[in-house]
Amino acid sequence: MERGGRESGSADFATLLEKAVGHRRGLLHEAGASDACRVFSGAADGVDGVFIDRYGAGATLIVYEGRAPQWFDAQEIGPVVLGVLKAWGVQGVYHKPFARDRSKMGGELPPVVTDPRPLCGEGVEEALAIREHDYRLEVRLYDGLSTGIFLDQRENRKWVQEGVKARVQRGAAPKVLNTFAYTCAFSVAAARAGALTTSVDVSARYLEWGKRNFALNGIHAEGVAHRFARMDTFEFLEYAARKGLRYDLVILDPPSFSAGSKKKGIRPWSSVSDYPDLIRAARKVLEPKGSVFASTNTTELCRPGRLQQLVVKALGNEPRWLTLPDAPVDFSRDRDRFAAVGFTV
Ligand SMILES: C[S@@+](CC[C@H](N)C(=O)[O-])C[C@H]1O[C@@H](n2cnc3c(N)ncnc32)[C@H](O)[C@@H]1O
Repeated sequence: MERGGRESGSADFATLLEKAVGHRRGLLHEAGASDACRVFSGAADGVDGVFIDRYGAGATLIVYEGRAPQWFDAQEIGPVVLGVLKAWGVQGVYHKPFARDRSKMGGELPPVVTDPRPLCGEGVEEALAIREHDYRLEVRLYDGLSTGIFLDQRENRKWVQEGVKARVQRGAAPKVLNTFAYTCAFSVAAARAGALTTSVDVSARYLEWGKRNFALNGIHAEGVAHRFARMDTFEFLEYAARKGLRYDLVILDPPSFSAGSKKKGIRPWSSVSDYPDLIRAARKVLEPKGSVFASTNTTELCRPGRLQQLVVKALGNEPRWLTLPDAPVDFSRDRDRFAAVGFTV
């Protein structure tokens, strides 16, 4: 975004943002719509390295250092974002600067990402409950760089719900295993539709957050219907296979990389090299005719057809593919950054 060599600024950004919001207007008016979505998506909406997400009364302005253009000044753009998103009920905008090389930050976060005071506008509650489909989820806009939900999976969570509902109507509550569960959004979606769930993550903090998400929806999370395992996913899958635990749906949505920790029994993980093993390990815990949902945002695996090829190679045969929903409208312009497949073995 540059005009005749002159640096662009807030007025031009306002125009781009209005356009991006217009493209997503349906989300605001849809019956029972979610009140959390992406409203500006980097290069796809005209400015590389800049992303804006709306979470009910709050919004985050995510700026990737080195990718965002030189003219982009968060202090100047914050009020522009607030001005445009006021019509969507946004009252405060929080700044999330992402360093070019986070590994050099030594685990230190920029103070602004834990500051309850927004970049502009009024502050929002520490724990905000947003609405998605027929459930609510807790998000935190000043608890670090992440907020507690991956918005791009919204329609996939609905797909999980619909699959569960169909099974429940046929008379059985399906068992859903959600690995790399984070704050258990997929589990909550499944549980709301009547599934029995198991959520696995190495982070106790995220699983506690997951339990709060269950509570937010009036689902009792301490009983036998919904289990939480603080464990390495591979370790859990091996344990489940040994114990004869079987699932109707296994959800695989791992990060691209994870350093692991010998001390905590967490294996290092790389999607490019380890995904085939994960698929094979998941297959061992499926009920007959059980399904797998496998997702990634690792660049190498997002090339068209690449994730399917990987699955076929891992299984040694072609599974029965399931039709997944298209990317939600707020991510439709950058669908090449995500890949997901569903299959029955
Ligand atoms: C990309 S997020 C997963 C997003 C989640 N599926 C969702 O839809 O909200 C990555 C999660 O994987 C967890 N994680 C990383 N390595 C893990 C491992 N080896 N086993 C289990 N969980 C792991 C992290 O703690 C984090 O919560």
